[in-house]
Amino acid sequence: MSHLSTLATRIRDEVGHDRVVDDREIMASYETDWTGRYRGQAGLVLRPMSTEDLAAAMAASTSAGVPIVAQGGNTGLVGGGVPRDCEIVVSTLELDGIEATGSRTEVVVSAGVTLSAVQQHAREIGMRFGIDLAARDSATIGGMIATNAGGVHVVRWGRMRTQILGVEVVLHDGQVLDRLNSPSSRGLTDLVDLIAGSEGTLGIISRARLRLIPQEQHKVVVLLTFDTLENAAKAASYLRADLPELGAVEYFGPKAVDLVGQHRGLRPPFEHGEDAYLLVEVSGSEDPSPALLSALEDMPGIGDSAVAVEPGRQRALWELRESITEAINATGVPQKHDVWLPPAQVPEFARSLTRITAEVGAESVLFGHIAEGSLHANVIGLEPGDRSIEDDIYQLALDLGGSPISEHGVGTAKVHWQRQMLSPLEFNVMQSMKREFDPSGLLNPGVLVPSS
Ligand code: FAD
Ligand code: MLT
Ligand code: ZN
Repeated sequence: MSHLSTLATRIRDEVGHDRVVDDREIMASYETDWTGRYRGQAGLVLRPMSTEDLAAAMAASTSAGVPIVAQGGNTGLVGGGVPRDCEIVVSTLELDGIEATGSRTEVVVSAGVTLSAVQQHAREIGMRFGIDLAARDSATIGGMIATNAGGVHVVRWGRMRTQILGVEVVLHDGQVLDRLNSPSSRGLTDLVDLIAGSEGTLGIISRARLRLIPQEQHKVVVLLTFDTLENAAKAASYLRADLPELGAVEYFGPKAVDLVGQHRGLRPPFEHGEDAYLLVEVSGSEDPSPALLSALEDMPGIGDSAVAVEPGRQRALWELRESITEAINATGVPQKHDVWLPPAQVPEFARSLTRITAEVGAESVLFGHIAEGSLHANVIGLEPGDRSIEDDIYQLALDLGGSPISEHGVGTAKVHWQRQMLSPLEFNVMQSMKREFDPSGLLNPGVLVPSS
């Protein structure tokens, strides 16, 4: 521990006294993830206020040989942003500047700026940001780049990587790679492509230049029920293929609706429960309702529907969907399995998931971005440490032609699956890249990159 106190003194001298936290009580809030499932002990917590602070702190930590875990809003769901074994946690929350660029189509932000602050800035200049997710008040731009976050508009705007025009990254030894003003593609050496999804293993993102898009003039949100998940999945695929105005297609089932009702007192505007719900958003410069209605006209299996054109009613429908994660957490520490599936396989996945969980006396709650095949299979009712069916669920996704790794990333939770899914050549390339950026292996060890 003495090397940590020497390091703390050095960083206090070089960066500032209040940039270093070593009080155990304060550090505790950085040591457990959002679900309460992943926890560890931090050696120190550093809170840089500028790229220069961050660079000095990283240079000092690296020369002391102490591993570093970057942490933004700590809303990540795969255990990648919390310490495991006395690492230094670098919290980016005080890197919170938003810089006007003189152009309405882009903004430069520091890594700790939250998604909702970017959204607010965009609204104020008559624009919007392409990514949205329910953790918007806490999730940071740095964390979202590091995980290459998806979210509810992934079907329209893709994932985080496609919203980035430039990045600034602090390397392990404190050097600053500045590609903030670069054109977005530099072929093989494009830093944006490398850093999006790198989960704090190659460097710490300090700033980013983000793309802003025009606000749509017209928006309609519809909540639909379906008699079967098969019909809901078919409808999602059909809408994805045929409706250019599509902004979101989110699936959830009656169990999710029950939990949200219990936890938040929110209910769909229908009397009875159905097998599957789809929340659909369409938007454009002209009224998208005619296109949506014609797309839905002959769709089999639709039961009830609620159409919202007024913003307050649209928000209310979205709240049902966005409260699911919180409602699941309220039941205890959940097991969250974020998988990718060919959309046609979602019903078979759901059936087998129900069987696997029932066999151990647990319950499943499946929901997610169905049109993109990004589904969240939550298991509730197991002891927090019980991982007995986790790999069965991931294997099921794989057997159905999907993947155990999807929008939440790899973290510590899926590093063994990452190893299994990489070809020997991919594994070697990944290792070489990691060594190039992080020769001493001090950046987020145990996350994303399998060690052997
Ligand atoms: P953290 O949790 O702090 O960190 C996540 C990872 O990024 C860690 O590996 C960390 O080391 C690394 N990291 C953080 N900051 C930096 C940085 N500046 N430089 C380098 N590495 C860094 N995810 C989705 O994809 N789609 C969703 O729809 C979605 N919805 C969510 C809803 C809720 C209610 C919650 C709780 C989570 C949701 N998530 C979703 C997961 C989470 O919000 C995202 O993964 C988000 O991108 C994490 O951002 P963060 O700032 O909280 O990162
Ligand atoms: C979501 O889509 O709401 C998230 O990815 C969060 C979750 O999986 O719980
Ligand atoms: Zn999601």
